[in-house]
Amino acid sequence: MTNNVFSPFTLPNGNQIKNRVAKAAMEENMGSAERLPNQALFNLYKQWADGGVGLLITGNVMVDRFAMTGPGGIALERDTDLTLFKQWAKTAQANDTKVWMQINHPGRQVYKNMGGKVLAPSAVNMNMGKLSGMFGQPKAMSEAEIDDVIERFVTTATLAQQAGFDGVEVHAAHGYLLSQFLSPLTNKRTDKWGGSLENRARLLLTIVEKIREKCGQQFDLAVKLNSADFQRGGFDAKDAAQVVNMLAKYQLDMVELSGGSYESPALQGRTADDSTLSREAYFLDFSAQIAKNSPVPIMTTGGIRRLPVANKVIDSGIDMVGIGGALSFTPNLVNVWQQRPEFVGPVPEIDWQHKTFRGLAIMAIVKRQLRRLGAGKSAKPALNPYLTMLIDQVRQTKLTKRYRNQLKL
Ligand SMILES: Cc1cc2nc3c(=O)[nH]c(=O)nc-3n(C[C@H](O)[C@H](O)[C@H](O)COP(=O)(O)O)c2cc1C
Repeated sequence: MTNNVFSPFTLPNGNQIKNRVAKAAMEENMGSAERLPNQALFNLYKQWADGGVGLLITGNVMVDRFAMTGPGGIALERDTDLTLFKQWAKTAQANDTKVWMQINHPGRQVYKNMGGKVLAPSAVNMNMGKLSGMFGQPKAMSEAEIDDVIERFVTTATLAQQAGFDGVEVHAAHGYLLSQFLSPLTNKRTDKWGGSLENRARLLLTIVEKIREKCGQQFDLAVKLNSADFQRGGFDAKDAAQVVNMLAKYQLDMVELSGGSYESPALQGRTADDSTLSREAYFLDFSAQIAKNSPVPIMTTGGIRRLPVANKVIDSGIDMVGIGGALSFTPNLVNVWQQRPEFVGPVPEIDWQHKTFRGLAIMAIVKRQLRRLGAGKSAKPALNPYLTMLIDQVRQTKLTKRYRNQLKL
């Protein structure tokens, strides 16, 4: 019998996921002032766990509270109390659902008004035209800072394991720190952390190796990687295929392929040169190519909202499909598909030409929707994008103030 979206999947470590659909990581920006999970987040994850997905990957959790992708995020560090993290894991595991914590360091993608650390492989500023000034000035990391980041990823993974999560996904995509090390455009180092692809991948590989050592084989370990940055001279599909092979050595359980960064927001379907990719499963071609030769299971994420497309992805040899936007408007999408295979998950339809604003509007609408679910309200895909961006800005400003006050930045 051939596999489809509803078939279980056995990871290389022997652990089983009940079907092939994962809720992709979506930063909720709903954490408490102390950067901890809270009731709204539990409500949200309960709906997803009840809704039929096999695997929940949390929104990115920071390994350092002084380097955050957003002011309402969650951080998990050596001294963090695990009580609420245990509750988060337990809630997400209802219905035999597996939950992985995505762990991340933003590197240079830190908003200037937040303060804190802006670290990067090299002091290369963000290049987003008029929006570049929104980001802090990055500092090239010292050897001691690199050691500290490695230690932090391993500590956060260990604590996630203690809290009861089934695994972690190391975020090495979307232009964050590990992806900055992988790209020759942002990594200009001449030491063992830069230059050849092997050197640029060293930080990611070291982190993966140490997490494996510390957490053991039974703790699921995945990496989210860009199939390409979609920037000339950047990390490309050939590099991605090689990094997947390098990762295989550590008996990784999954590589999730995505694409783009803040500078080239392809993760929502358009690249820096604005060539439109196929509207659904836009990383499918890259991922199918990589999956063909990959010793590691592959998941692809981006644009999936119909069952036949999801099944086509599985048919092409990819092991799992990741879904973000569509699962925020229909948290029980998998259950719905069981009853109504023709159902198309609604997502925000925004046709703005300006790719950055379009991306920001989609993010703002999805985040507003996640907050609605957290507050027990129903789905509403047709939220006004202008109003939602305004609400997002006001909220972001308030949270930034709260963040800075709390950390005395
Ligand atoms: C509001 C929002 C937050 C996101 N946060 C994260 C994140 O924390 N980590 C991550 O790897 N990807 C993040 N993404 C990207 C998604 O995981 C996914 O790759 C992307 O939305 C494309 O999938 P989709 O078309 O199914 O939404 C986020 C996307 C959205 C819309």
